[in-house]
Amino acid sequence: MRQKLVAGNWKMNGSLAENEVLLDGVVAGTREFPGVICCAPYPYLFQMQEKLQGTHVAWGAQNLSQYERGAYTGEVSAAMLKDFGCSYVIIGHSERRAIFGETSMTVAEKFKAAQDAGLVPILCVGETLSEREAGATFAVVGEQLDAVAGFVGVSALEDAVLAYEPVWAIGTGKTATPQQAQDVHRHLRERVALMNSEVAGKVRILYGGSVKSSNAAELFAMPDIDGGLIGGASLVASDFCDICRAAA
Ligand code: 13P
Repeated sequence: MRQKLVAGNWKMNGSLAENEVLLDGVVAGTREFPGVICCAPYPYLFQMQEKLQGTHVAWGAQNLSQYERGAYTGEVSAAMLKDFGCSYVIIGHSERRAIFGETSMTVAEKFKAAQDAGLVPILCVGETLSEREAGATFAVVGEQLDAVAGFVGVSALEDAVLAYEPVWAIGTGKTATPQQAQDVHRHLRERVALMNSEVAGKVRILYGGSVKSSNAAELFAMPDIDGGLIGGASLVASDFCDICRAAA
């Protein structure tokens, strides 16, 4: 049995005051579920550490530099995330790929930098609407997965989390149906199994894209969906806690 995970991706939202309320609500409302993760903007990682240390809630960042240290103005290293108690880091979110030009190679380097520092990468893959309509979904997510597996080796996926996030479902209110999501999750797991069946059985694959308390349970009931990566609904404690309960 794979322990389900529910990770909140706050994106560029929050404030010290808002986070205070949100984190109190998440800690209090998810006690029966061990797989909760909150991924905050960098400046709030100190606050995450102060508020979440000693609780059942893990925390992480939404990005990191592929470089260890040095003249990389504006960047944040894996070791810095570790300094603030992060266990996880989201890698290759579609917003980073599309808005900030991250290539599959950059994503692979970031994945490696995270693991080298002892962080668990949450590797995002997903197709756009036009790619889906062109029948290219499996090819797109396959290329995104293979770029990382080829760079770090398939066994590294055992200590990572995958997240399937169809770009057309992110922030649109348009969720993939449980069957649409399951089909891609199964494809990803089978693709890993071709390289290493033991790793395929263990790797958690989260679904992300307009997950709400009203659709979480049916998504999480699918055999290859091991939890969720939650955007908008992770900013409201009661909604996020309901989603966590659907995974418990
Ligand atoms: P929404 O849940 O807001 O659609 O965002 C999903 C997402 O991008 C999580 O990483």
